[in-house]
Amino acid sequence: MLTRVHTGLDAVEGVWWKPAHKAEKIWVAIAFAWCMVLFAMMPLWHWKGGQNPSGQRTRVDAKAYYARTVTFASRYKVGDDRGIPIVQPPPGADVYLVGLTFQWYPILKLQQGKEYMLHISSLDVNHGFSLYPLNVNFAVVPTFDYALRVTPTAAGDFRIICNEFCGIGHHTMVGRVIVVDSTGRSVADNTGARIDHGGNP
Ligand code: CUA
Repeated sequence: MLTRVHTGLDAVEGVWWKPAHKAEKIWVAIAFAWCMVLFAMMPLWHWKGGQNPSGQRTRVDAKAYYARTVTFASRYKVGDDRGIPIVQPPPGADVYLVGLTFQWYPILKLQQGKEYMLHISSLDVNHGFSLYPLNVNFAVVPTFDYALRVTPTAAGDFRIICNEFCGIGHHTMVGRVIVVDSTGRSVADNTGARIDHGGNP
């Protein structure tokens, strides 16, 4: 007796599968439609959501970027807070901020309602720029200069918190951005404020 050999390469003859149930077809259609909605939300949120600002990324040498930041800081230095210069660039200027273990350099003093080109980069490892208490977050990556057009909308004395684990001193990596109001007046001074951890005063 001759047995027909069937391999997986050949389709089985006849209708051997059960046709999809109507409900299954509906659910697949709904899932697909929802995928398309989520897919469209990404660009939509980018353009209309007021988030994910478009920045320019350029490759830089980490040490050269740091040197540029130091030059920028000495040029517009107006004060000092525990050894870190307070720097007040003119509106419209290119502003440089660098993250390094474990500090943000320098302290920026900006004017409310004025536009700046903010450059962010790191000297050593990845850091996270998180402007507290606002919901602003950026990855800070060495050898990449992330440039953003920013216009401070609120005056105050803000903190930059590192939100990317970068080493043993990660939790102490706190920077400062001072935004003066349109008359150039500081509306808050949190110089003495401390950020405590674990609820211990
Ligand atoms: Cu820098 Cu964590």
